[in-house]
Amino acid sequence: MSANELTSGDFTERNEPFDLFAEWLKEAEDSEINDPNAVALATVDEDGLPNVRMVLLKGFDQDGFVFYTNFESQKGQELLGQKKAAMCFHWKTLRRQVRLRGPVEIVTDEEADAYFKTRARGSRIGAWASKQSRPLESRFALEKAVAEYTARYAIGEIPRPAHWSGFRIRPLSIEFWKDQKFRLHDRIEFRRASPEGDWTKVRMYP
Ligand SMILES: Cc1cc2nc3c(=O)[nH]c(=O)nc-3n(C[C@H](O)[C@H](O)[C@H](O)COP(=O)(O)O)c2cc1C
Repeated sequence: MSANELTSGDFTERNEPFDLFAEWLKEAEDSEINDPNAVALATVDEDGLPNVRMVLLKGFDQDGFVFYTNFESQKGQELLGQKKAAMCFHWKTLRRQVRLRGPVEIVTDEEADAYFKTRARGSRIGAWASKQSRPLESRFALEKAVAEYTARYAIGEIPRPAHWSGFRIRPLSIEFWKDQKFRLHDRIEFRRASPEGDWTKVRMYP
């Protein structure tokens, strides 16, 4: 069976994006060699200049697509300033792409705390030790910061730093793309006027 035949039926006939996304992500989990939840995250700075980097998708549902980061990082500052973002998944093994964009909101403290607790101890220490996106004079300085926080939190729970939390993109559009012969790919885009609105579907030329 080829990758393009995995999802049952013709995906362009689908009328709802979240279930379709869940199926495609599940298939990517089964076929990608690593990080099927890796996604390019685009933001804009205060001058409107775009910026892009990879993050890991840590949750999604009807409310949106969630990832976690340092709020004092470049992306954190851009998201807090402009409050909008876009994502692009590319699953090479499946020859599929999903794009989405919309306004962002901050996840609740409860949500961030719950996810932070699931992270490896070293990653929780790292969230304290890394001043993400700011100049670092040497690897040694980072290792020293890790050692200091390891000693500080040697006993008991490691609290979530106030500067570390999650953002949720509430998509106004989600596009599904699947490779077809001779670059005559299949594309459908779901659109809605507001995050509470109903989806309309548009099929597009490749
Ligand atoms: C596969 C992959 C996954 C990543 N996941 C995250 C993530 O979930 N959160 C994060 O803050 N950085 C993640 N990074 C690092 C970011 O790409 C980036 O280097 C870092 O967050 C700083 O970005 P900024 O300076 O634009 O804020 C990931 C990198 C890769 C290659």
